[in-house]
Amino acid sequence: MTYGQGATGASAATVFGIDIGGSGIKGAPVDLHRGELAEERHKVLTPHPSTPNAVLDGVVEVVRHFDWPGRPVGVTFPGVVKSGVTLTAANVDKSWIGTDLAARLGERLGCPVTVLNDADAAGVAEVTFGAARGAKGTVIVLTLGTGIGSAVFTDGHLLTNTELGHLELDGHEAEKRASTKVKDDHELSWSHWARRVEKYLHHLEMLFSPELFVLGGGVSRKADKFVPLIEGVRAEIVPAQLKNNAGIVGAAMAAAAAAGDVG
Ligand code: BGC
Repeated sequence: MTYGQGATGASAATVFGIDIGGSGIKGAPVDLHRGELAEERHKVLTPHPSTPNAVLDGVVEVVRHFDWPGRPVGVTFPGVVKSGVTLTAANVDKSWIGTDLAARLGERLGCPVTVLNDADAAGVAEVTFGAARGAKGTVIVLTLGTGIGSAVFTDGHLLTNTELGHLELDGHEAEKRASTKVKDDHELSWSHWARRVEKYLHHLEMLFSPELFVLGGGVSRKADKFVPLIEGVRAEIVPAQLKNNAGIVGAAMAAAAAAGDVG
């Protein structure tokens, strides 16, 4: 699917979106024409251990909070997702590998469920409604959080499941050097952490020559503390605009696209 022209469906669709993250599971009905939450989101803490059964209970609790009728639901997952099946689990319980999340959640909720990678969802939302709306050429959306997620677009077309957070940087996976979790765990200063993000962006630029980097995740709210410190990157660097709701909005968009409501 090609994104970036705004939602074009005939119906004023509201679709439910859920974002499964390392710390929280949050969801809300989404107004797909405005790319905004239609109601205040509900959040439960991600259980530990974050096994499929425990996380599914949390997701069901979030949906039930809204008394959502059996209409399509979109869900993000922090790993590779193919045909509703979760194939990797870098920051959640390893028992997720090979789980048919779409089928299991569909059974619990009694409605069609679409699953996609969390960064892909955030990227789709940013390219359609946010910081990269209408951007041409190559756009890389990065989510800086517990891990680093990536969404790569060329002229609005998403290359799914890119996993650029696992590229090697200084002998380590990039997300083990430049995620916000690493910043917090090691109490890195903004300038120290910005140097690491800068190095990572240079590496990505060498590989992909994007026109635009969009930096997302909760830290995008504090973009003024680190984006101005990043030097020598040719591409434009902008903070994400949908902040913590990008995943929810992108999940709902994917569910609508799968149901044929939008686009
Ligand atoms: C996962 C990605 C995910 C990212 C952000 C990485 O560890 O491998 O799939 O998008 O974390 O949650």
